Amino acid sequence: RAFLYRLWKGNVSSKMLNPRLQKAMKDYLTANKHGVRFRGKREAGLSRAELLCQLRSRARVRTLDGTEAPFSALGWRRLVPAVPLSQLHPRGLRSCAVVMSAGAILNSSLGEEIDSHDAVLRFNSAPTRGYEKDVGNKTTVRIINSQILTNPSHHFIDSSLYKDVILVAWDPAPYSANLNLWYKKPDYNLFTPYIQHRQRNPNQPFYILHPKFIWQLWDIIQENTKEKIQPNPPSSGFIGILIMMSMCREVHVYEYIPSVRQTELCHYHELYYDAACTLGAYHPLLYEKLLVQRLNTGTQGDLHRKGKVVLPGFQAVHC
Ligand code: C5P
Repeated sequence: RAFLYRLWKGNVSSKMLNPRLQKAMKDYLTANKHGVRFRGKREAGLSRAELLCQLRSRARVRTLDGTEAPFSALGWRRLVPAVPLSQLHPRGLRSCAVVMSAGAILNSSLGEEIDSHDAVLRFNSAPTRGYEKDVGNKTTVRIINSQILTNPSHHFIDSSLYKDVILVAWDPAPYSANLNLWYKKPDYNLFTPYIQHRQRNPNQPFYILHPKFIWQLWDIIQENTKEKIQPNPPSSGFIGILIMMSMCREVHVYEYIPSVRQTELCHYHELYYDAACTLGAYHPLLYEKLLVQRLNTGTQGDLHRKGKVVLPGFQAVHC
């Protein structure tokens, strides 16, 4: 519990994690499998307002639009949705919810509150059916990693989880964001199922995030963290928070910073225990959370009891 109290105050370091997680983090630093070369500078203690302005000016959501090689020559300009993600709600949504898949949301009774938002973002294969009381049943946007599209066990083609929602997919690319290299060697080949899905469901908004957007987020996390963070992309959770900050005037994030309900239960919909799900091994999740904790405008009571962080959307940020 001591760790949780410190996390709520933003006062933790990786040295306080269990030895297994520390070892995993070290191994990812050594492997540097995405060829990360950090060229930014460390920002010592930006204020909340300064941080928000940094994010607003530099973390603009970007998706593949088919204008760059190799996608331009492959006809992707006509394949991607005609309306860009940023234009789907041109006047902005008022209030939005980001629902993390953490086990700690079980027994929260947050469902009704979550559904009261104008839009709700969920992740990967996280279900609502059977969990409505705790997670609600409205889904507006779903962020999916490339494994969801490629692993048959997720039934991407026929599962109702991926219908009638805005889909945003991503896959780790090299840090250089060389799209030719990435296209030839994605982590999981999401391009083929994406093309197929676009052809079969041309009216469903479905985007692939631009690797430059993902690594830009990584740069901002590293710039604002004293320790060396894992040289791997931020988690879907962090990516989702930033997408909603660009689409909504206010963003309520549930069970990202864990509540008093926290255990090692990884997901609310799966009996699997691993502290890495909440604190990170591959993803620089602990550092993402420390950054989000610094941005919180919600109350301490909501943070502890609901695991809720409230963030202003970029339209509400004045720089
Ligand atoms: O596991 P998955 O990536 O589908 O979960 C979605 C997001 O929820 C993660 O990327 C992470 O940011 C967040 N999460 C968390 N704690 C957990 C499980 C998930 O913060 N125990």
